[in-house]
Formats: sequence, C-alpha cells, structure tokens
Amino acid sequence: MLATVVRWLLLMHLLVHQCASSNSFNGTHNKVELDATTTTPATVWRRPPIEYERDLVIELIEGAEYPIEKHVLTTTDGYILKLHRIPDPMQYPASGERSTDPKVADDPADGLLRFGPAKTFRGTVLLMPGLFSTAADFVVTGPENGLAFVLADAGYDVWLANVRGSRFSRKNVKLSVADSEFWDFSFHEIGTIDLPAIIDYILRETNAPKLYYVGHNQGMTNLFALLSAKPRYNRKIHHAIGLATIGYLGTTDNRVVRRAAELTDKLYSTLKALNIHELKPTPDIVRLMSGLVCSSDMNELCVEMLRGFFGSTVDRSRHLLPTMVDDLLTSVSTRQLIHIGQLMQTKKFQQFDYRNYMLNTQKYAQAKPPEYNLSRVLLPVSLFHGAKDFITSAKDALRLKDELRNVKNFLEIPDLNHVGFVYSDRLYARVNRKIIEIFNQHPKA
Ligand SMILES: *[C@@H]1O[C@H](CO)[C@@H](O)[C@H](O)[C@H]1NC(C)=O
Ligand SMILES: *[C@@H]1O[C@H](CO)[C@@H](O)[C@H](O)[C@H]1NC(C)=O
Repeated sequence: MLATVVRWLLLMHLLVHQCASSNSFNGTHNKVELDATTTTPATVWRRPPIEYERDLVIELIEGAEYPIEKHVLTTTDGYILKLHRIPDPMQYPASGERSTDPKVADDPADGLLRFGPAKTFRGTVLLMPGLFSTAADFVVTGPENGLAFVLADAGYDVWLANVRGSRFSRKNVKLSVADSEFWDFSFHEIGTIDLPAIIDYILRETNAPKLYYVGHNQGMTNLFALLSAKPRYNRKIHHAIGLATIGYLGTTDNRVVRRAAELTDKLYSTLKALNIHELKPTPDIVRLMSGLVCSSDMNELCVEMLRGFFGSTVDRSRHLLPTMVDDLLTSVSTRQLIHIGQLMQTKKFQQFDYRNYMLNTQKYAQAKPPEYNLSRVLLPVSLFHGAKDFITSAKDALRLKDELRNVKNFLEIPDLNHVGFVYSDRLYARVNRKIIEIFNQHPKA
C-alpha cells in the first residue's frame, strides 16, 4: 500500500510529461514579451556537493557569498519554524564589493534595476514557498536567477519561510513527527497560524510597519486563507505577488492531474486506514534520485524524467539537477495533499472537507466546509500565471483574478509551467525582474 502512495507521489512529480498546453490563453491581460536581450545567461552554477541532513538553504546562500541569518520562532500551537534571511544589504557594506565584480558589472542586461541605484533600502520582503517546498526554492537556481538573491541585490531585506512539516520545520514543543496530530494540518493551518506568526515576527524584528510578499503555489493560498480569516493582516502587507497560485482548481486538461483528483477520496480513506499522516520521500528514493540516477554522469532516464518537471532547464543546466532533486525532498501532511485534491474535485476554494457530517459540523458549525472569502483580500495583488501550468489552468487563474478585488497586474508567462517559477534558468528575465519592477512601483510608505 505504501508503494501505491509513493507511486502516486511520483506520479504527481512526473505529470508534466502529460502536459496539455494546446489550450492557448485568450484573455485581455499582459503577456510577457520573450525579449532576447534580457535573457539571463544559461551558465551552470556550480557549488560543492551537499549532504541531505545539512541545511541546503544556508549552504546555497553562503556558497553565493551573501550574508545569511537563521531565525527560529514558535507558533501558538507549538510548531517551531525556521526562517532564513538575507539581511538588508545596507548593514553589510562589504557586500558593496560585489557590484564592482566585473562579472556583474559587465552584464548589460541587468542594468540599473538589479544592482543600483546603489544600495537604496527598498523594504522587507517575505518569500513563501509552495507545497513540497522550502526556502531553498528561492535560492536553488543560484545568484543570477534566484529570487532571494535578486531581491537582495535590489535593496530588499529578504526573509524566507519554512512552514510546519517541511524539511526545516519538523519540530513542535509537544508533538513529534511520529505523532499523527503533528500532521493534522493543511494549507489552512499554515495560512492562519504559521503565516501570521511569521509576519508578526518579521515586523517586530525589523521594526517595519509592513512587508512585501511573494508566494509560490500554495505559498499564496496560505495568504488568502489568512486574509479570509483575519482581514486585519491586509494592513501588514504592501503588495503580494502570487506565482502559479493555487486557488480555484479543477479545469486543467492534464489527464494525470484529473485522475489524481478523482482518486482523492479513495486515497484519503486509504491513508487514514493505514494511519499514514506524513508523505515523506524515503532516504532510498533520495539516494536513488540524487546519487545514482541523477549523478553528474547523467543517465538519460533521469533527464527524461526531469525534463517534464523542470522544463528546458534540464538541458541547459544539468549540473544543477542533483541540487534540484535535493530541494524536492521535503514532507507534506497527507491532509494537505487531500485538501488540494478536494479543491480540484469541487472546483471550489474552500476549507478542508472531513467527508464526515459530525466532524464538519464540529469544526465549521455547518455540514459543508466554508468557502474562503476572497472579498476580504483588499491589499494590492499581482498574479503570474505560466501558460504551461499543468495544475492551474488559465481558466482557473482568471477566475481567481476576477474574484479578487485589487489585482494590479496579471502576467502570463508563455513558456513556464507550474514549477518553472522555481526551477527555470530564465527566471530573472521572465519573472523576477518584473517582481522588482512591481514592488518598486509600490514603494513602502
Ligand atoms: C480565442 O478567441 C477567438 C475570438 O474570440 C476564438 O476564435 C478562438 O477560438 C479563441 N481561442 C481559444 C483557444 O479559446
Ligand atoms: C465576505 O466578507 C465580506 C467582508 O467582510 C462580508 O461582507 C461578506 O458577508 C462575507 N461573505 C460571506 C459569504 O461570508
């Protein structure tokens, strides 16, 4: 049975292969131009080999010679969360040397936007990773593309979150990861408990009145859950950007995703019966993927498997693959996955359905789970949608845009899929440069 679960997980990982992108987008929003002059050079960024137990985020940031801080906080329900931070460059005058680095100065594409005007402090930003992910998502593509680095260069104080259950936040003051209660959460609890704790911690720590926010996939869903429950958090964020946001789901053409969604109820009861609450990549799979199959001596199987997942990056940055595979290795609660399956099944953006009248009424005082109230999301929002996204279709993304009250930008990126927002080696030109432009248009008060 466990094998079924693992297969299902792998299926989720591999489903881009079936990616149906024929349904070209037909809206009225902005399409991002694929401007050749702003393409980031596809250089392979090398770093020393890593071990699974070590902190990948710290290694990647240190490897790139950026300052790094580690912070730890405890949520009201006892989860101990680790935050990574690339602090405000103003505090680190030595980092000014980097802007005279010939490699950097010679890159005409970057221009003023990225490395100047010299060291103006632009604000505090929180980066929220998606499902199956950690803060490593924002640094894994290296200093030329990684959002955390790019924002730090542009003058932002960058905070990276790791939510409950993920590789860097597997502790609770009362519970251990072996307890089923530890895993009794989905994006709802991450959004309504972890996220406000993280935001308040950062605001306290930095003395800033507000922060900027970027969420990938579930990272933005968390914010919607928070604002729907606690609208006062609208006042704590200048502007929020969602990359491949999960909100409304269920209209994708991808056959594998649809099939997985159909199996949600079955999977839920199976996992419950088996008492499986954590979906975790086993060390064997890890070793197999990153050590053997995906070693530097690239096996075609690995390339084939990952090409679907990572897109064309695979062909241009093969040396990055072991790091990427490593980045994928984090646990999720089964409830989290089932919750997303339910969104696909019901096509509603709503809280977790216990599929049990008693439990639902106990929890929600009604038989059906309540929908998230998106009219409470009042802060300015910008959404990026990849035209090749195999989970959120263009239709889903537009529906979300229409439900939100204050969407400032809706950007369609023609050649990105769902995970391309993390792994594409063209992130700087396609996405991250625009994130900085948007934030700069909404300066901190
Ligand atoms: C896009 O819109 C045009 C005109 O409204 C229509 O002819 C075309 O079929 C649409 N394409 C898609 C993919 O929906
Ligand atoms: C959603 O929130 C708005 C603003 O708080 C409120 O007026 C409205 O009644 C809510 N809708 C539902 C269905 O709860």
